[in-house]
Amino acid sequence: MSASPILAPSILAADFTRLGEQIRQATEGGAQWIHCDIMDGHFVPNISYGAMGVDAANQATDRFMDVHLMIFNPDSYTESFVKAGADLLSVHVEAVAHLHRSIQHIKSFGIQAGVAINPATSLSLIDPILEEVDLVVLMSVNPGFGGQKFIPSSLGRIQALADTRARRGLSYKIEVDGGVTLDNIRSCVDAGADVLVAGSSVFAANDIPSRVRELITRMTA
Ligand code: DX5
Ligand code: ZN
Repeated sequence: MSASPILAPSILAADFTRLGEQIRQATEGGAQWIHCDIMDGHFVPNISYGAMGVDAANQATDRFMDVHLMIFNPDSYTESFVKAGADLLSVHVEAVAHLHRSIQHIKSFGIQAGVAINPATSLSLIDPILEEVDLVVLMSVNPGFGGQKFIPSSLGRIQALADTRARRGLSYKIEVDGGVTLDNIRSCVDAGADVLVAGSSVFAANDIPSRVRELITRMTA
């Protein structure tokens, strides 16, 4: 659990012809993490970018690289994302047959491990792994695309994860991913979120540094 919430801009919404520049603008505004969305066209109905994209983003910044794998068979790609600069890799509970093994595999490279969960998946499915993970990525949209609308029932799920953490004395961070805007970022933090992913609300802004500052002020003030 972090003292103050972390903003993690998702570069999925960035202008890839100016990726380095836009990442620098986001960090200039105060973004602490950079969120990378990896999509395989099978687990989710869209293809984004792979380890090469993470490597390029990593070269543009010294910030923490938070890599969200929306792919089947993630274990086969763990090493390539570690080499590309991932500081944390998250796998979807819905995409792996042996979640404990996948989490241990990530940790064996000396980086942090997270589990991601879709809006319609029962939180009970990740209950047995909560002791092992550094991060829970709570999807607040159905994964696959940026720019979707926040699903309001996600707030109760954030709260449930925060309650479980307190009750069991655990220390995983709770990340909210999808549809986070100036209007709802504060309610996510109030419900117990530690890391707020924001794609279009950061990169669709005309002035990226000031939008990042605004989001951070909104969630901390
Ligand atoms: C959705 C991705 C999100 C997404 C967030 O599949 O995991 O990280 O890019 O983008 P916005 O903030 O536009 O919903
Ligand atoms: Zn994501």
